[in-house]
Amino acid sequence: MKVKRVAVIGLGYVGLPTMVAIARSGIHQVVGYDINNERINVVKKRLSPIEDFDVKNFLKKNSLNVAADKSILENSNVFIICVPTPVKNYLPDYSFVKSAIQTITPYIKKNSHIVLESTVNPGTCKDIIIPLLAKKCKLKLGKDYNLAHCPERINPGDEKWNIYNIDRNIGSVNKKFNKKIAHFYRSYIKANINEVSSLEVAEASKIIENTFRDINIAYVNELAKSFDKLGIDLHETISAASSKPFSFMPHWPGCGVGGHCIGVVPYYLIDKAQKNGFDHKFLKLARKINNSMPQYTVSRLIYGLKEVGLTLSKSKIALLGLSYKKDLADLRESPALEVKKELLKHGAIVKAYDPFVKTDTESLENALKDSVGVILATAHTEFVEKLPKLLSKTKIKVIVDGRNCLNKKIINKYKIIYKGIGR
Ligand SMILES: NC(=O)c1ccc[n+]([C@@H]2O[C@H](COP(=O)([O-])OP(=O)(O)OC[C@H]3O[C@@H](n4cnc5c(N)ncnc54)[C@H](O)[C@@H]3O)[C@@H](O)[C@H]2O)c1
Repeated sequence: MKVKRVAVIGLGYVGLPTMVAIARSGIHQVVGYDINNERINVVKKRLSPIEDFDVKNFLKKNSLNVAADKSILENSNVFIICVPTPVKNYLPDYSFVKSAIQTITPYIKKNSHIVLESTVNPGTCKDIIIPLLAKKCKLKLGKDYNLAHCPERINPGDEKWNIYNIDRNIGSVNKKFNKKIAHFYRSYIKANINEVSSLEVAEASKIIENTFRDINIAYVNELAKSFDKLGIDLHETISAASSKPFSFMPHWPGCGVGGHCIGVVPYYLIDKAQKNGFDHKFLKLARKINNSMPQYTVSRLIYGLKEVGLTLSKSKIALLGLSYKKDLADLRESPALEVKKELLKHGAIVKAYDPFVKTDTESLENALKDSVGVILATAHTEFVEKLPKLLSKTKIKVIVDGRNCLNKKIINKYKIIYKGIGR
């Protein structure tokens, strides 16, 4: 297969690192297209619109050929689609994927490869994308050009696992085309590229990864609630159980599941199975448990305040962290936003601070000033490093550590009540 030019469509947490990885290989020409003009202008200035170590480093010394103008797609023969697939009213929203397919169809030529990297339900390529391609493109899929699915598995902010070293699964309309596109992936990814037998297997592999995480997190979140009643430290218990070298994989409780993947993807499968006559009771229950965690976190604060004769109503509370993940600015599906709603519902005066997100307080010190309670919703490094040192100068009575990342003993030393999740 001769790769003329690779076009990456959608330049976010997945698309930009992908573009950089292809550019770094030095083998292929790569261009990027995004509908967001602002984002394009940022990249053109050689700045990264996302928190990504590799992208930031690359842009310090190099530029990327990106545009919000479709003509940049001309002369490409590999199209990698990395657009969002959010949920809307608990149903998968494929409007971005459909619009990306419509954008690229005029540029598809003989021997082109379209690769969808966005997370989709099993059957989406067959039921939605292939009929759309048939309507828009005169060439014959499977004979003249390929449609592949290679779900992205990166974990933004992870310093160990990245686009270069995570194995990938890839499925195509047929085996012959799959071999060719897998060969292309091997040209810029060092990890194993596993050729699976169908588009459906590739789609389903990603869905079960995400639902596996959601279910396991729901399990430990449920244990956190139960162990609180039993007076057992769940954190220490999970660490102890983790010493088994097989059959146990630690998952950690917290104030909720956020982001674009784990808390969203189970709804895709629930919906798909429902439409095909199957009720995913287990997945639904996991979602319900994980969705209850912001409320549970606030209830921990209410109990803590009660111990010192305070109520949440009219109390100043510092909400530390708004993004869903440590040291990232991503607010998508963040449980911190639910925690904030819940605090406001109880009449609290919320002072939110996040070093990565614009908030009503400009510093950690400002957020803590005059607050009687703290909910730490995101384990940002700044909180772990600075918060314990600031406590002596505050009026804080209770800290709820929604990420179990603070040192309980140090907090107790200041005569502050510490409440974790399962701790
Ligand atoms: N973020 C993650 O951790 C992660 C990991 C693995 C897989 N995924 C999946 O990858 C996909 C992309 O996620 P993301 O986090 O990169 O999203 P993102 O929101 O960070 O980026 C998506 C980009 O696509 C652009 N876009 C939207 N519609 C477009 C269109 N029609 N044409 C061109 N550009 C368009 C947006 O402007 C945005 O810049 C999703 O399906 C997600 O579930 C995400």
